[in-house]
Amino acid sequence: PVERRVNDLLRRMTLEEKVGQMTQIRVGKLRGDCNNVPGPLVESCMKTVLGEAKVGSILSGGGDNPAPDPGPKAWAEMTNQIQKYALDNNRLRIPVIYGADGVHGHSNLPSAVMFPHQIGLGATWNPELIQQAGKATGEAMRATGVFWNFAPVSDIARDTRWGRYYEAYSEDPFLAGSLAAAAVKGMQTPAKDTAQLTATAKHFAGYSEPKNGHDRSAAFIPVRQLQDTVLPPFQAQFDAGVKTVMINSGAINGIPVHASRYMLVEQLRERMGFQGVAVSDWEDLRKLVTHHKVAADYPAAIAISVNAGVDMAMEPSNAAEFTQGLLTVVRDGRVSQRRIDEAVRRILKLKFELGLFERPFVDPAAAERAVIGNGVDIARKAATESMVLLRNEKSTLPLSTSVKKLVVAGDTADDARRQLGGWTVEWQGVPAEGPFPETTTVLEGLKAAAPQTEISHAKDQASAVAEAKSADAVVVVLGEKEGAEGPGDTEDPSLSPAQQQLVDAVQATGKPVVVVLLTGRGRVLGSVSDADALLSGWLPGTEGGHAVADVLFGKANPSGKLSVSWPKTVGDQPMSYDQLPGANGGASSKYDPAYPFGYGLSYTSFEVGAPTTPSVAKARDNVKVSFTVRNTGSRAGTEVVPVYIQQPVSAVQVPERRLVGFARATLNPGEQKTLEVTFDTDQLALTVGDVDGAGRREVARGGYLVEAGGKTAPLTLR
Ligand code: IFM
Repeated sequence: PVERRVNDLLRRMTLEEKVGQMTQIRVGKLRGDCNNVPGPLVESCMKTVLGEAKVGSILSGGGDNPAPDPGPKAWAEMTNQIQKYALDNNRLRIPVIYGADGVHGHSNLPSAVMFPHQIGLGATWNPELIQQAGKATGEAMRATGVFWNFAPVSDIARDTRWGRYYEAYSEDPFLAGSLAAAAVKGMQTPAKDTAQLTATAKHFAGYSEPKNGHDRSAAFIPVRQLQDTVLPPFQAQFDAGVKTVMINSGAINGIPVHASRYMLVEQLRERMGFQGVAVSDWEDLRKLVTHHKVAADYPAAIAISVNAGVDMAMEPSNAAEFTQGLLTVVRDGRVSQRRIDEAVRRILKLKFELGLFERPFVDPAAAERAVIGNGVDIARKAATESMVLLRNEKSTLPLSTSVKKLVVAGDTADDARRQLGGWTVEWQGVPAEGPFPETTTVLEGLKAAAPQTEISHAKDQASAVAEAKSADAVVVVLGEKEGAEGPGDTEDPSLSPAQQQLVDAVQATGKPVVVVLLTGRGRVLGSVSDADALLSGWLPGTEGGHAVADVLFGKANPSGKLSVSWPKTVGDQPMSYDQLPGANGGASSKYDPAYPFGYGLSYTSFEVGAPTTPSVAKARDNVKVSFTVRNTGSRAGTEVVPVYIQQPVSAVQVPERRLVGFARATLNPGEQKTLEVTFDTDQLALTVGDVDGAGRREVARGGYLVEAGGKTAPLTLR
């Protein structure tokens, strides 16, 4: 029936109505001065965008939270008002779809709960939990009339210099894909009281591979790396039913992705089978003229990108200019009517499938309930499970809640903005003025967890050292400046000299020193790596302070495992555990991180038994791997066991190990469980052939080793 309804509309739509559907405009164009000056919605602005240009989608980019009242009720009323105007002023009553970046909760909304950013969620290795966080995010967004979430990020994290590193789950394609698929399932949980929401697989594809780690600088990605590493996380999201993709703003191998038929048709549609809507990123059609210089003028850029496979243009900045430009290139034959129908068909199908025609409006009275406090327990659990204990000398941790005095120091100990990171209320993070999500900082979390302990906050190095003398322990919380995209890039991912000096100075007092890192990436630690205890809490969101306190005081046993390699030196970038073999041998080509992928300590210890598998499998078989895990220590705890495949001989180079599955178990002291991981032999496929290969992916027959807990079992593929 959806198809019939789409066909019926398509038959009745004018070309102007069709190109309007292919346009997405920021809400700032509908209010204030019609050009991003905040204020209430203005009828004449809506007339220009929705009435005349017939725009089919509105978005809030990072800086577009509706002022002056940013509450959930006001959001719901605003989206309703936009929807009503659109429906009343469009002949065929096609609803608009509203989109926003709910990348760690309903992140534009100062009253919403913020979850850890994806890099922290990656360290949980817990798809169920990520699904729950996605569900809470989706509920909050839907309740405010936002039915399109530009999340999760499927890009992989391999270069800590890249500003958006923290927005990715992992350096590993399988882990990133599994977690992104879980987020999609959560966000797209069937809705009861509103229309449905779609997630987005972004940024298709190769966005995380810019040269030098500079956001959107040109990337060079051989077909083998593209197909075997970059695209699989997207495929996992497609398999999970995501309905939209957002396109990478950068260029790959000399072709901007917005102009690449190879990427947007041959790979995305023909090879990967994606059937949903492909939306551009912000102003990216114009950038084919102004930045990439592959088009002489704007109409040419529009023709190139629509022909390449862009279905909808996000914020082409001026609605009429874009729609007129698109009309021109259709009328002069540069873009076919067929291609327009194909794009509009996908967009209408999306709107029908989400139920927007039936339920275009939301109930503002219900919005607060769905937003405020929604997911707070999940946020705390996720922040707690994201904590990775990197070092714990002399059993410094856990601290006792009966210690008399603690000194808390460091630039992020009581700084909610840094703790929340980018994409919080605004794109670059919490704005200088205005409300932001209620956040428990580490200082506040520690005070709440240990009310009997005297906890002092030393605001500089001198007072930290002076106070340390009479303290039982010092907790130093170090962070990084929040940011996103270009402004978040860094040439040098080291902790700053001031941060290192502070830690050195308190270490010199001889008191136990616990360093908590609230950073969106593994920073090069320098002398900080000698601190008595080191905990990475990433960007843990609004509940982060409680989560850190729970781990430091032992109420929670840390279970996070690195989903990325922690670099030892600045020169380590880009870095991943699955690097291919080099020819020098020795240290120069060895994988040599400060802490490897999968690393993370616990307050207890575990023993993983040898894996058992069938010794022979066929192509397309599911292979079951089982092994025991035992808690050999004296505290309850959770262990994550990655399962890797090794391929001792392969015609194309393969990494020493590749992740094919993982399992987690929570065990009491002395308890043992048998865990089972199933992987599909298709996961072992590699792009074959010389140089870049013919692009074909094949599963090689022959001998493999299945590895779990450092032990292996042989497997032959027939
Ligand atoms: O979704 C984002 C994208 O990740 C970066 N550019 C802007 C988009 C909308 O805010």
